[in-house]
Amino acid sequence: MSKLKIGIIVGSTRPGRVAEQVARWVLEQSRSRTEADFEIVDVASFHLPLLDEPIPASLGRYSKDHTKRWAEKVASFDGYIFITPEYNHGLTGALKNAIDFVWAEWNNKAAGIVSYGSAGGVRAAESLRLVLAEVKIADVRSQAFFYLGTDFENYTTFKPDPSKVEMLGRVLNDLLPWAKALKALREAPA
Ligand SMILES: Cc1cc2nc3c(=O)[nH]c(=O)nc-3n(C[C@H](O)[C@H](O)[C@H](O)COP(=O)(O)O)c2cc1C
Repeated sequence: MSKLKIGIIVGSTRPGRVAEQVARWVLEQSRSRTEADFEIVDVASFHLPLLDEPIPASLGRYSKDHTKRWAEKVASFDGYIFITPEYNHGLTGALKNAIDFVWAEWNNKAAGIVSYGSAGGVRAAESLRLVLAEVKIADVRSQAFFYLGTDFENYTTFKPDPSKVEMLGRVLNDLLPWAKALKALREAPA
């Protein structure tokens, strides 16, 4: 089996977002996990419009170049770490839109969630879990969450509490075996 590939999906596309700092920290912390390669995937850089495919993604007939480009990137991973802030007690519209664009490329993969907000973004994470179930992503129970008030200086500079290293470690401990198991499932002869 080839080495696992995990995409760290940056779920905020907002100018001035803190999401990139969180994603970079997650990437840095993940480097010690040599059983997988990790890559930051910035939803903003794919310039996805609001869903403009005429046929639902589950039918797999993508017509737009931006969809095909996004599908190819999503397909290249065995699992994901979704980085989501909390917007109005939910995940970001940009992340939901990006998930909606494709379907088979998400199927039978594993995911962990990293959330942040004034209450740790835990409500956003719960809403994200509902969406992930529908695209057949197995999301692990462990979760890393960051408080805007204490894990960020002046609500803008990411300075996570040292305990969060272990918290993210638990996400990786759960995610990597599931990503490996699901890779075997996808690669098993039908
Ligand atoms: C439209 C919008 C809605 C928000 N709603 C919430 C919320 O419901 N709960 C919360 O804790 N923070 C909320 N926030 C604050 C965000 O969590 C905070 O601005 C965070 O930095 C956003 O992440 P980003 O900078 O990576 O986009 C909201 C921010 C925006 C822009």
